[in-house]
Amino acid sequence: MPQQLAAKKTSVEQLEITTRDIAHEMGQKQREISVSEFFTKNRHLLGFDNPKKALLTCVKEGVDNSLDACEEARILPEITVKVDPTENEDRFRVTIEDNGPGIVRDQIPRIFAKLLYGSKFHRLKMARGQQGIGISAAGMYGQLTTGRPVSITSRTKPSKPAYYCELMMDTQKNEPVIVKEQELEWDRPHGIKVVIELEAKYQKGRQSVDEYLEQTAVANPHAAFKYINPEKEELVLPGASSELPSEPKEIKPHPYGIEVGMLIHMLHDTRARTLSSFLNTEFSRVSSRLAKEICEKAGLPENARPQRVARQEADKLLKAIHSTKIMNPPTDCIVPIGEGLILKGLERQFKADFYTATTRTPSVYRGNPFLVEAGLAYGGELPQEGLARLFRFANRVPLLYQQSACIITESVIDNSWRNYGLPQSNGALPGGPLVLMVHVASVWVPFTSESKEAIAHYPEIEKEIRLALQECGRKLSTFLSRRRRHEESEKKKSYIKTYIPHIGIALREILGLKEKEEQRIVENLTEVLEKSRGG
Ligand SMILES: Nc1ncnc2c1ncn2[C@@H]1O[C@H](COP(=O)(O)OP(=O)(O)O)[C@@H](O)[C@H]1O
Ligand SMILES: [Mg+2]
Repeated sequence: MPQQLAAKKTSVEQLEITTRDIAHEMGQKQREISVSEFFTKNRHLLGFDNPKKALLTCVKEGVDNSLDACEEARILPEITVKVDPTENEDRFRVTIEDNGPGIVRDQIPRIFAKLLYGSKFHRLKMARGQQGIGISAAGMYGQLTTGRPVSITSRTKPSKPAYYCELMMDTQKNEPVIVKEQELEWDRPHGIKVVIELEAKYQKGRQSVDEYLEQTAVANPHAAFKYINPEKEELVLPGASSELPSEPKEIKPHPYGIEVGMLIHMLHDTRARTLSSFLNTEFSRVSSRLAKEICEKAGLPENARPQRVARQEADKLLKAIHSTKIMNPPTDCIVPIGEGLILKGLERQFKADFYTATTRTPSVYRGNPFLVEAGLAYGGELPQEGLARLFRFANRVPLLYQQSACIITESVIDNSWRNYGLPQSNGALPGGPLVLMVHVASVWVPFTSESKEAIAHYPEIEKEIRLALQECGRKLSTFLSRRRRHEESEKKKSYIKTYIPHIGIALREILGLKEKEEQRIVENLTEVLEKSRGG
């Protein structure tokens, strides 16, 4: 027995030594992963899964930034996109140039060669970019696949020369490295030019750079575009409107959209000295009276120091917030394209027989204001065969991938288009010569992933999309039934018309009329028929 015990003891000791060794060994292997290392391995998360998509994503990140910057600076955007082939057929050189405000010199390295750096993440304002991981990811992908730096030309005002630099990213540290910099003559008074060389594949058609620019033009009729593709074909689209979209307002978060972790973080960071002034100043729609009411419900003193509020108390605070009636956030922070401009955008792109558009009033999901618009073009030169084309937009940016994962697609499929006179099979888009567009605008668009390709399924958003589609559908249905009635009556008329001469002959024979009288009868009858056509 004692022998057995001793054996057991040694094996326990042995086990203790080995596990300690393993833990020690494992401990030595642990190390921090920088964001850029992470995204280098997981490039698909940012939209660089394959060479064709990489080209699109690169152009998209550049153009989205140009449009955002121009709008923020209240400049009518003029954007040039050039995709040049290189000596290596698997590599292309992408140039995106804008007439925006430019970027000050000391911000340039971090903007273009550091992931998660940007001006839009920490604010609630409607914009195309939001995560600070767009253009720097494109540059990183270029560097990774070609070893070449990103080059930037920036000018902030005509009185200053342009600044030119070439940047690489230290992916282990997620920090920029300036390879070259100099002042430069540039014919533009202000703006940005970005050149990225990357491994890519150019292909026209679905999910191409060409399609992205076509759709961007539909949602941004105020912008002028020039596009030169690798085959040196030039597409020039002058602006279809000299009206800039109005400037979206920045707002504070609404208390209903906040989670406990975020609340703790905000309590810690605030400059407010008391809990009630924290609630009042850091959130939208919390008056000082409401702030007091919330503190009271949570059982916390209104003059408590926000930094002193413990985690459990934060839970109580959140509960109190949700049991208090707080007005919806202001919605003037959302800027729609607007019905008139949607029509202009569709007309600039498509020759159709019928156009319609609708802009819903803003609504709220999880404390975030949003708004839905829809538009469609039907008939004319649009292809008769096949399914409708669906254009999805989030803050005016076309979404070209992950169509089936997107709430927009689901809502379009769930709508009964047959009620409006269009063919539709189960679980499919409607058919016919139709282009449909749906735009979701928000201070924070809930994308399903970092690559910003599909909008997540929030019931509030789904409802608004459905209502917008139904409105467009009803208008289309009115047009279609009117056109059908018109066609039917035309058919009847032409049928009757073939009989009119025979009636003339018959009447002449029965009544013994003269030829002239017969002719007059035929003319009269034809006139009566034609007159009704005018109606
Ligand atoms: N063409 C441009 N003109 C002016 N500012 C720009 C331009 N491109 C990028 N920026 C600035 O760089 C920041 C980072 O851009 P990006 O990496 O695409 O992230 P995001 O657009 O999500 O903020 C933007 O927030 C913006 O402030
Ligand atoms: Mg961006």
